[in-house]
Amino acid sequence: MDGIAGEGERRDRRADAERNLLFYGRDFADLIVERAAGAHIFDQDGRAIIDFSSGQMCATLGHNHPDIVAAIHQACREVLHLDSTKLSPAVIDLARELCALLPPQLQKAMFLSTGGESNDAAIRLAKLTRGGFEVVAFTGSWHGMTGGAQGSTYASARRGYGPAPVGTFALPAPNAYRCPIKHCEGSCDATCLDVGMALYDQWTTGAPAAVIAEPVQSAGGMIVPPDGYFRRLRDHCDARGLALVFDEAQTGLGRVGAMFAFETEGVVPDILTLSKTLGAGVPLSAVVTSDAIGQEARAKGFNFYTSHVSDPLPARVGLAVVRALLAEQLVERAARLGARLRGRLQELAQRYEMIGDVRGRGLLLGVELVEDRHSKRPALDMLLQVTKRCLERGLNVNKAGGANAIWRLAPPLTISEADLDKAMDILDAALRECGAH
Ligand SMILES: Cc1ncc(COP(=O)(O)O)c(C=O)c1O
Repeated sequence: MDGIAGEGERRDRRADAERNLLFYGRDFADLIVERAAGAHIFDQDGRAIIDFSSGQMCATLGHNHPDIVAAIHQACREVLHLDSTKLSPAVIDLARELCALLPPQLQKAMFLSTGGESNDAAIRLAKLTRGGFEVVAFTGSWHGMTGGAQGSTYASARRGYGPAPVGTFALPAPNAYRCPIKHCEGSCDATCLDVGMALYDQWTTGAPAAVIAEPVQSAGGMIVPPDGYFRRLRDHCDARGLALVFDEAQTGLGRVGAMFAFETEGVVPDILTLSKTLGAGVPLSAVVTSDAIGQEARAKGFNFYTSHVSDPLPARVGLAVVRALLAEQLVERAARLGARLRGRLQELAQRYEMIGDVRGRGLLLGVELVEDRHSKRPALDMLLQVTKRCLERGLNVNKAGGANAIWRLAPPLTISEADLDKAMDILDAALRECGAH
C-alpha cells in the first residue's frame, strides 16, 4: 500500500511520477495537490494556493462544490453507466434544462465525455448534413486532441503526426494586439476575416462543411474578436454553405458574464459544443443543434456511438452544475467580478510598462507581457519567473498564447472578492520582486 502523507512513510511521489508517468505535453509541476476546495488547491504541506485556472479551465463552481459532490453520491446510489441505448432520468433532465437555457434553434442535445469528442461529433454532424468535408478553423485554435478536433487545432503541436484530415483550412485569428495581416493596430476591423475567406474561396474544392470557432480564443492567447465579427462570419458561412460551429468549452455556462458567449454576438451557431465548464471538473461534454439538423442527420444515419455517450453519472453532475449556476447567479457574478479583476489589472498596467495588453471577457481575462510597449517583444522569461514566484506566494496562474507571453486568468466564478484581491496583490508583489518595470 502506498503511504499517505501523515501516515508513516511519506513517499517521494515526484520521483515515482518521473518513473511511471508518461510525459504528455508540459512538465509536471513540482507540487503535488492533495486536496482542493472552492478557489483553492492545497499541496502536501497543506499550503493553500488560489487557483486562477479553475483546474484545467473547468471548475467554474470552484473545486469540490458541495452540489457536485452530492450529485456524484446520488449517481452512486442510482446508476453510473449504461449501454448506450439506455437513458436515465439524469440525461433526460439535463437535456431539458440545458435546452431551456438555449434559443429555439438549439434544442437537440447529445452528451459525451470530453471537449475533443464533442467537436469531433460536431464536425461529423456538419459533414454529414452539409455533404462536404472542408472544415475551416482559426490559427491559434484549440479544439481537442481527438482526430477531427486535432485536425482543426492550430495552437498545439502539429509536427510529427502526419497529415491532418483532408480539407482542413485555417483563417487568421483576429488578434487586435498583433494583427495577423499587419493591417490594424490596437483594434481589429475584421479585414483579416474577409482576406481569409477570399483565400478559402481560392482553395475550396466546392465541398464546404463547417467553420469552427471559439468565441474567445483561449489557448491561442485570449483573443477577443471585435463587435460584429461573428455576424460577419455568419454571413460568410451562409454565403458558402458552411455550418457555423461554436466551441464554447471555456466560454459557455457563465464564465464570460453571459450564459453563452454567442448570446452577446447576435449570432446563433448551427451547432454548439460545450465541455469543460459543463461538468465543472468531471468529464462531460455536449453537442447541441437544431431540430432540422437533428432530423436530417438521423435520416442520413448519423453515428457517434461511444462507450460513455449519455452516461448517467456525468449527466447527474451536469444537471447540478446548470442548477447551481442559476441558483447562485454565477453569470451575473462573473460579469461583476470580471469587471473588478479587469480594473485591478488595468491599474497594474498603469504601473508596469511590461503589461502590454489586458483583454478578455467576464472572468476569462488575458494579460500580455512585453519587453516594452513599442517593440511588443514577448517577455517570456519574465512571465515564467513571475509565474513561479506567484506559485511560491500562493497563486496558480496559467500561461497561454504559444510563443507570446500571456497569462490566462480564470478563477472559479464562486471566488470571494477577498481572494480575488489577494491574488492581485500576489501578482503585484511577484512582478515587483522579479524586477518587472
Ligand atoms: C476551446 C476548447 N475546446 C476544446 C478543448 C478540448 O477539450 P478536451 O481537452 O476536454 O478534449 C479545449 C481544451 O483545452 C478548449 O480549450
